[in-house]
Amino acid sequence: MQLHMPVALWFSLLAPLWLAAVQAQQFLQEPPAFIKPCLLKDSLSNDCLTANIESLFQHWRNGVPGLHGVGSLDPFRVGRLRIAQRVPPNVDVSVELRNMSTIGLSQAKILNSTTLLNSGQYTLGFHVHLTRINITSNYKLKGHVLLLNLNSAGILSADLDNLEFYVALRMRPQSAEGLVFMNVTAIKTDIVRIDKIRVNLTNLFGGNQELERSANELFNENWRVLFDVLRPVLTETFDAVLQDRFTKIFRYLPAKYLFEDFA
Ligand SMILES: *[C@@H]1O[C@H](CO)[C@@H](O)[C@H](O)[C@H]1NC(C)=O
Ligand SMILES: *[C@@H]1O[C@H](CO)[C@@H](O)[C@H](O)[C@H]1NC(C)=O
Ligand SMILES: *[C@@H]1O[C@H](CO)[C@@H](O)[C@H](O)[C@H]1NC(C)=O
Ligand SMILES: *[C@@H]1O[C@H](CO)[C@@H](O)[C@H](O)[C@H]1NC(C)=O
Ligand SMILES: *[C@@H]1O[C@H](CO)[C@@H](O)[C@H](O)[C@H]1NC(C)=O
Repeated sequence: MQLHMPVALWFSLLAPLWLAAVQAQQFLQEPPAFIKPCLLKDSLSNDCLTANIESLFQHWRNGVPGLHGVGSLDPFRVGRLRIAQRVPPNVDVSVELRNMSTIGLSQAKILNSTTLLNSGQYTLGFHVHLTRINITSNYKLKGHVLLLNLNSAGILSADLDNLEFYVALRMRPQSAEGLVFMNVTAIKTDIVRIDKIRVNLTNLFGGNQELERSANELFNENWRVLFDVLRPVLTETFDAVLQDRFTKIFRYLPAKYLFEDFA
């Protein structure tokens, strides 16, 4: 006991330096037990890949073991987002979100997976279904929405029902340290279905509860209109977040763990 303490302390002090030094060549040393490598042939229903991706979402919901810089999936946290959108007459706002937390992503169901090989580049396509997503965040908002002039800061919460989206992931194999890794070159998502969005913004009118309630009612009655207006900027933001995450994961995970083709 007495011996272990100083050793542990010494290690915990040095570990960050050591990690920084080897960061560039760090990769997962052992294939995860819950993954079975799949063949990346051209396919309209790659069931093997579907099973792997669902497994990854569930097993790594608290983050990827050993990989720093990729936080948990459930809850999924984003420190800061800025969204500006101007589409007269309904929306002309700039919004800043801080400490955003999303619950429900680890429950993703992959409806199907397609794989396509084209001149050395792989395109993976997934239809993803989420029954329920909850988002909470601090917000700051300025501008106008549905004829309301707003300039407020408070808490935003939102529930999304039955979200289905298509995500296309483009990647190219690349060698590093005698192994092959996938370099993610593009990610594009497209929301194909959403049944309902409910939002609740606090403190919209300096604490006037009556005005706040009717504004939230207005947003919720017109959620489809607002969503359509905000869709491009939301999709873009989502793509950037996903691209960052997938790029880091594939740089860490040797391709052969996921794909039989690189064994
Ligand atoms: C995948 O599933 C979605 C939703 O059910 C469907 O619209 C799409 O056509 C399917 N794609 C393939 C290639 O089967
Ligand atoms: C975000 O969360 C951090 C840590 O939990 C906290 O220090 C910070 O004040 C929060 N920011 C806002 C805008 O609430
Ligand atoms: C999302 O929030 C609703 C209430 O707003 C709640 O009923 C539901 O259980 C929440 N879902 C999750 C996954 O937290
Ligand atoms: C991945 O590919 C892009 C362009 O195709 C290239 O600019 C980048 O350097 C590659 N990343 C790595 C880690 O090699
Ligand atoms: C909106 O959120 C606030 C605080 O989070 C809560 O007190 C209020 O009941 C919510 N309103 C509705 C209509 O859900």
